[in-house]
Amino acid sequence: MPITEQEKTAIETAWVRAQFPSLSQTVNAQPAVFLDGPGGTQVPQRVIDAIAGYLRSNNANTCGAYATSRNTDATIAAARAAMADFLGCHADEIAFGPNMTTLTFAMSRAIGRELGAGDEIVLTHLDHDANVSPWRALEERGVTIRMVEIQEEDCTLDMEDLASKITARTRLVAVGYASNAVGTINDVKEIVRLAHRHGAMAYIDAVHYAPHGAIDVRALDCDFLVCSTYKFFGPHMGVLYGKRENLQRLQPYKVRANTNAIPNRWEWGTLNHECIAGIAACVEYIADVGRGVLSTQGLPHPSAPSAEGGNHGTSRRAAIEAAFAAFHEHERAMLERLMAGLKQISGAKIYGITDPARFDERCATFAVRIEGHTPLELATKLGERGFFTWDGNYYALNLTEHLDVEKSGGFLRIGLVHYNTLEEVDRLLVALREIVQA
Ligand SMILES: Cc1ncc(COP(=O)(O)O)c(C=O)c1O
Repeated sequence: MPITEQEKTAIETAWVRAQFPSLSQTVNAQPAVFLDGPGGTQVPQRVIDAIAGYLRSNNANTCGAYATSRNTDATIAAARAAMADFLGCHADEIAFGPNMTTLTFAMSRAIGRELGAGDEIVLTHLDHDANVSPWRALEERGVTIRMVEIQEEDCTLDMEDLASKITARTRLVAVGYASNAVGTINDVKEIVRLAHRHGAMAYIDAVHYAPHGAIDVRALDCDFLVCSTYKFFGPHMGVLYGKRENLQRLQPYKVRANTNAIPNRWEWGTLNHECIAGIAACVEYIADVGRGVLSTQGLPHPSAPSAEGGNHGTSRRAAIEAAFAAFHEHERAMLERLMAGLKQISGAKIYGITDPARFDERCATFAVRIEGHTPLELATKLGERGFFTWDGNYYALNLTEHLDVEKSGGFLRIGLVHYNTLEEVDRLLVALREIVQA
């Protein structure tokens, strides 16, 4: 008898799922199962409401001397404060942009202004191309790119190779927090330490990690960290964290009229204000999950005001951390169940870490191939049954080329996030077995 997730984990799955209106859709009379989180997650109703509410009542440009413009300024400030809590930094260290890729190209142009022949940038074969091509573009300026190898058997970074490639010539190390293809979580703190030991900056792509674990940029000590809110239950936007001194010292390409103050000098033109309104709502949703968890543990509700008008010494940040601890526990149960089930499917090859004793080094993102079936065929057949998975390389191009699966369709990717359930995992396994045996 399958165990239902409500009995096993800290999050209240029924409440969580009720927050996301899209989860109740059907495909060919089958319930839709969203296993496409790594490509983009669903949003809770409050994010939809915040976006619509902004457009209905506050639609304006910034810095005007009238109500809707002032409200727009306040909306952006609230989203910055929310992202500062989410990443553990100051609000003026947060810049918004259309997506991670665009922000990273902008940063590479700015950082590249200081680089030339003799300078080196260290990248990895595990990374999404959005953390590769923007830096490779600096080869035009004479910069040398050094690629870190991976251990093919478990799709982890070769840390010895990484350490040997960071030298006194290295100016920047760009690395992913977690792989969007195989789910490997990198030892980012150690990589930042190795970069700093040689005076290089560390640029972290946290796009894939952000829905799975709490991020603390101060603890990591990274120079930059980028993520995309549409991967963690928010709207289609990108977010850049930069250490204050970097955002102040580096020179962005910008229009003359734009301020020189941080963080606005790193934001170009008019931003997507309605989506920015959705960002604060998405962070609040995550914090609310955490508040629920803390209250079931009998701990003070972090947002409840104290008699002195403050809160109980806890904070939205504490609530966010509690939410991620609960997400982790729930995702771990699904990871174990799906891994065990996939191992039973004949002809299935799972890429990345498969040993349960090492599950702390990965998240619940699976790259799979099944003998006799292309990833596209599997994704299509699953799609007809209501399971939304992905096939191909998902821009983790260096990895699919390296593992020699690029020409034969890449992988089938199954990505689990906290709104998925053990029951969905069980149903997926049944469907996969049927497809493979047909
Ligand atoms: C690990 C990773 N990095 C970067 C990106 C690019 O993000 P964006 O679509 O915000 O440019 C993605 C998108 O899938 C990703 O998964």
